[in-house]
Amino acid sequence: MSLHDDAEIKRLIEKHWGRVRSTTSAEKKQQIERLAALLKQDSGDLMHGQLLFKKNCGVCHTLFGEGGRTGPKLTGYERTNLKFLLPAIVDPSAAIREEFTNFLVLTNDGRTVTGLIDKQDPRTVTIRLVNNETTLINRDDIEVLKALDVSIMPEGLMKKLSDQETQDLLAYLISNAPK
Ligand code: HEC
Repeated sequence: MSLHDDAEIKRLIEKHWGRVRSTTSAEKKQQIERLAALLKQDSGDLMHGQLLFKKNCGVCHTLFGEGGRTGPKLTGYERTNLKFLLPAIVDPSAAIREEFTNFLVLTNDGRTVTGLIDKQDPRTVTIRLVNNETTLINRDDIEVLKALDVSIMPEGLMKKLSDQETQDLLAYLISNAPK
């Protein structure tokens, strides 16, 4: 029964994501300002940006017909509206679209699976994992199925990129078409 305990679920979440929301809002504001300043310099390399997008974002997001489905398609997203785009990148958990809610599943045999619900019927639930693969679980085997308020999209993705890499990725992200 301890699995239904909120403290136990919190422990599992921290085990999977590390300490959640560890970045303060002041740090996030600074990160957003950094991205905005880099974008203004307007010296990104689109070809290199495409590669960086594939590597850092493409597992989950489709852009210009290529990529995964764990996150929303970005092709039709208003990518040039930096007021939405930059916070969405820096602070993914601030606003999560319902269809992309992150779920935690605990099975009777002690497995934990997290991801979005790709499909479900009265007997099974199919979870799409962070690596864009899917796994089908019988409802009979599920002990807990719980919506989380932490996005599947990790925080701090742009922090590991250099200034030039960030410029390249962002230039590609706000471009009209590849190549
Ligand atoms: C592990 C999967 C994953 C990775 C990697 C990832 N994202 Fe996301 N992203 C998501 C999910 C899921 C959402 C929807 C939930 C949310 O808003 O947090 C999302 C939301 C977004 C949104 C808002 C889109 C909308 O329609 O609301 C943008 C913009 C975005 N991501 C950009 C990026 C960029 C740029 C990268 C690479 C630097 C990236 N993402 C990497 C999963 C991912």
